[in-house]
Amino acid sequence: MRFDLLTIFPEFFGGPFDFGIIRRAKQQGQIEINIHDLRSFTNDKHHVVDDRPFGGDDGMVLKPEPIFRAVEALRKEDERTAVVLLTPQGRVFRQQEAQRFAGEFSQLILLCGRYEGVDERVVQHLVTDEISIGDYVLTGGELPAMVLVDAITRLLPNVLGSETSAVNDSFSTGLLDFPNYTRPASFNGMDVPDILLSGHHANIAKWRRQAALEKTLKMRPDLIEKLLAQDALSEEERRWVEEKLRQQKH
Ligand code: ADE
Repeated sequence: MRFDLLTIFPEFFGGPFDFGIIRRAKQQGQIEINIHDLRSFTNDKHHVVDDRPFGGDDGMVLKPEPIFRAVEALRKEDERTAVVLLTPQGRVFRQQEAQRFAGEFSQLILLCGRYEGVDERVVQHLVTDEISIGDYVLTGGELPAMVLVDAITRLLPNVLGSETSAVNDSFSTGLLDFPNYTRPASFNGMDVPDILLSGHHANIAKWRRQAALEKTLKMRPDLIEKLLAQDALSEEERRWVEEKLRQQKH
């Protein structure tokens, strides 16, 4: 996967991609990350990238010409390319979306929005996907772009240690992850559940599934509702969940 990030703050990206799994993926050639300064695609003396909005308002808007020029220069003919604008006005980024980008594209051009926004002609005629990382407003699209690079990279083939590592991720199963423990088995009077020390794999798997259900019901009841609607729980799980939901209502 080739990532091309377009930003007015290229220095912002010094560091975050130089650690752990992302760094290894770069070294092994599974991904390539290129950071581009939007100003270098201007052709005026002062490298102006923004201007006041027509109709008047506070703030500044990113001009269309440098962005069109940049995407034209960066788009690779022989790649499957998505042009993604990071913006709070976008579709909310979820695991499924990360899987789609990882599976269907070989080049992602990530446009980091800034100021009050981006000229709408960019959105209408250049961008293929408008993506938000959540219902809050950041000062720009740089942090969201990092989030996409990270979430997508770990889903690419052979990036994680074993092929199954991403299969049990939170959200891939529709449930949050089950809780984990490590040594010591007893710490300041806090004990690890006995079953995890039993070595009985079937019982452990059952306990984990149940713990994941409980955690999800507590933290993200919306995910449980979705699984119920999809008929994705076992009969026993469905009955347990419906009973819990009934109790919560009283
Ligand atoms: N730019 C500012 N806020 C954002 C958000 N929540 N997601 C994506 N891009 C943004």
